Amino acid sequence: MTPKLAAIFTSHWNVYQKIITYNYMRHREMAAHSSEIFAGVKTRTPLKVLDLGCGDAQPIIPRLQQQPVASYTGYDLSEVALQFAQENLSKVNCITQLRQAPMQQFDEIEEGTFDVIHSSYAIHHLQQHEMRAILQSCFTRLDDGGVMIVVDIFRNDGQPREDYIEEYIDNIKATWQMITPGEQEEVFYHMRQYDFPVPANDMAGWAEDIGFTVTTHRVDRLHTMLVLKK
Ligand SMILES: C[S@@+](CC[C@H](N)C(=O)[O-])C[C@H]1O[C@@H](n2cnc3c(N)ncnc32)[C@H](O)[C@@H]1O
Repeated sequence: MTPKLAAIFTSHWNVYQKIITYNYMRHREMAAHSSEIFAGVKTRTPLKVLDLGCGDAQPIIPRLQQQPVASYTGYDLSEVALQFAQENLSKVNCITQLRQAPMQQFDEIEEGTFDVIHSSYAIHHLQQHEMRAILQSCFTRLDDGGVMIVVDIFRNDGQPREDYIEEYIDNIKATWQMITPGEQEEVFYHMRQYDFPVPANDMAGWAEDIGFTVTTHRVDRLHTMLVLKK
């Protein structure tokens, strides 16, 4: 069964575009760090890149232009986001493949291995058993020396899900001034219904058990990148 998708990722993608434009989820800081990670991958040139929950692919495009890339494969459930992705990726000089499918199924659909697997603000939509399974699939499908970059929202250790969500919502009310009150309500509904962040230390521990070497890069209390090296 295809998972249900929130309206903010279907009919109201423009709200998410505003969130990126005003850097409310720290995409700029994440991009600066992931630029260094991409540059450090020495598996092969050009790189094969997989992006899980790619959205409109806008934030990753500079990474695909900074060094030789053979292919970019993006997974997303949202038709609207993938239409924007198609348009945005026309600037990129590599083979691009977009799949409207659950990221949980990439291992059944794709052939071969990747040098970089990227997932930004998407894995928190999965349940914990799915997160662990996708980390295992990613480990299997990365070349030796390859890297998985997980940008996401994470609870703090011991913090209940509801407390994290309400803390995030308080932050939105205080700082997301360019998002109208009506749009904010939509984000709050989305978070309460669809977001299931885990503590970063839990995900790091699962990844280490699988065989990854993990580095945690905390941009601020609410936004974190895990770098998982094979
Ligand atoms: C917050 S957006 C992030 C988009 C982009 N990666 C970024 O950082 O700007 C989350 C994306 O994950 C997608 N998504 C949610 N659950 C998914 C799933 N199970 N499989 C594939 N995509 C999913 C949504 O459609 C949405 O485009």
